[in-house]
Amino acid sequence: MLLLAVAFIVTFVLLLYMVSPLISPKPLKLSGAHVVVTGGSSGIGKCIAIECYKQGAFITLIARDENKLLQTKKEIEKYCVNDKQVVLCISVDVSKDYEQVENVLKQAQEKLGPVDMLVNCAGTSVTGKFEDIEVNSFERLMAVNYLGSVYPSRAVIATMKERRMGRIVFVSSQAGQLGLFGYTAYSPTKFALRGLAEALQMEVKPYNIYLTVAYPPDTDTPGFAEESKTKPLETKLISETSSVCQAEQVARVIVKDAIQGNFNSSVGSDGYMLSILTSGMSPVTSITEGLQQVACMGIFRIIGLFYLGSFDSIVRRCMMQREKSESADKTE
Ligand SMILES: NC(=O)c1ccc[n+]([C@@H]2O[C@H](COP(=O)([O-])OP(=O)(O)OC[C@H]3O[C@@H](n4cnc5c(N)ncnc54)[C@H](OP(=O)(O)O)[C@@H]3O)[C@@H](O)[C@H]2O)c1
Repeated sequence: MLLLAVAFIVTFVLLLYMVSPLISPKPLKLSGAHVVVTGGSSGIGKCIAIECYKQGAFITLIARDENKLLQTKKEIEKYCVNDKQVVLCISVDVSKDYEQVENVLKQAQEKLGPVDMLVNCAGTSVTGKFEDIEVNSFERLMAVNYLGSVYPSRAVIATMKERRMGRIVFVSSQAGQLGLFGYTAYSPTKFALRGLAEALQMEVKPYNIYLTVAYPPDTDTPGFAEESKTKPLETKLISETSSVCQAEQVARVIVKDAIQGNFNSSVGSDGYMLSILTSGMSPVTSITEGLQQVACMGIFRIIGLFYLGSFDSIVRRCMMQREKSESADKTE
């Protein structure tokens, strides 16, 4: 009887694995597609643009600094795979004015055709202790990291729905999966993207539009170098428990997941574990993904608790050291 039950479960799981590709989204062909990358002039966004260009896409780069945009355009054009490919540069702040963002995207679509894939990568970070972060930084980060993804997405969604196709990527962060010391201004803006993506995915799935939320780990970029200058010691020590990735590697994973229409995009074993742990009620793109979540959730929670314990002990040690040196200073 037991043997029969085991055989039944194994057959059922195998069957699910076999039908899984049939119900997953059809991969998007990037050759000839129009890909818009906000924050495309630097770091992860630039590498995403290069990756898409290498696969034959037409690219619109969006950022504020015109010189940086033009320099990046030249860099990307080196990877041309056919002589029809175009890289268009648009200088605009994605977080300031919705009408402006809508207008520039309209212009881009007139030049390069409807947007097939939008990658919302423009973002910025401020770290520090909650009470030390300027109040306006909380507002600025929410504007750039959250509204700066809402505006471009809102501007392209109607055309995507009409065409019944499209991909939208939100570049969140591992700090959008768990809150860590020093990220009180940054983490909520990245968590917010997940909520937006889940709600929007339910609306647009019947239109064959798929969303991807990417959760990059620490990645070697100009933005990361800038952030590292002001990181509190606790944040640095916690970050050092995992390694820093290369932007090219992160970009390759994001583009691959976006093409496949995967809702979740993570890098490395830490990223895989975090994504399983935080899968909650998020959509799955394949049965295999759902089965992995069910099978691994418990054990990953146990490992996660050890990580949390070690992060707490880093924070406690730093506090004790700081108090010790402060009282030594006072007695001198
Ligand atoms: N690097 C990491 O460790 C890491 C880890 C997890 C998640 N992320 C996320 O990945 C994304 C890219 O990070 P990165 O490290 O590659 O950053 P980066 O090197 O600093 O590049 C940021 C890009 O965004 C553009 N940008 C910033 N604010 C903008 C605005 N208001 N309007 C339009 N464009 C704007 C910048 O150009 P201009 O300044 O010229 O506008 C630049 O092109 C961000 O969303 C970040 O939060 C990064």
